[in-house]
Amino acid sequence: MSKATFRKFKKSDTEAIIKLWKKCKLLVPWNDPYKDINRKLSIKDNLFIIGEMNKHIIASAMAGYDGHRGYIYYLAVLPEYQKKGIGSSLLSIVEKKLLQLGCPKINLFVRNTNIRVKAFYKMNDYEIQDSQIYGKRLIEDN
Ligand SMILES: CC(C)(COP(=O)(O)OP(=O)(O)OC[C@H]1O[C@@H](n2cnc3c(N)ncnc32)[C@H](O)[C@@H]1OP(=O)(O)O)[C@@H](O)C(=O)NCCC(=O)NCCS
Repeated sequence: MSKATFRKFKKSDTEAIIKLWKKCKLLVPWNDPYKDINRKLSIKDNLFIIGEMNKHIIASAMAGYDGHRGYIYYLAVLPEYQKKGIGSSLLSIVEKKLLQLGCPKINLFVRNTNIRVKAFYKMNDYEIQDSQIYGKRLIEDN
């Protein structure tokens, strides 16, 4: 199998990325993926990374740094390419990019229903934090 390559997201990747997120079951009714992508592109931080194999998009990670923490969203690898180390490689690329910005720590959200992914983060040295996440929606997507 060829090797995955990684690059920053381009607007023309939108449909392929949304298909990927759908296949990876990351889409939820309360987040409009088009709006999520447009909001991310408006920040212009080049932290939205995709993975390709033979020119097909097979992976994504949308990261951010707010000056205190780094965050990672939409980490996904197409099911048929999972368990080959691509998710870990992408995570490590994102970690390096955040580190280059001086980011001291990373947090990420794992839905309580997404039990399978816990082994993946543990393997990549992420620990469950002793905090609860509070949220408040400022803009409804639909
Ligand atoms: C999480 C995800 C990005 C990992 O990508 P990946 O390329 O499979 O990861 P790697 O190959 O680097 O690591 C695989 C390891 O993670 C765990 N793992 C990953 N996917 C798994 C799955 N579907 N079932 C069970 N374990 C899984 C295992 O520990 C596995 O190690 P093993 O191969 O020795 O068993 C991928 O499974 C995915 O896209 N999942 C659906 C979307 C998702 O839940 N994203 C995370 C949102 S918080």
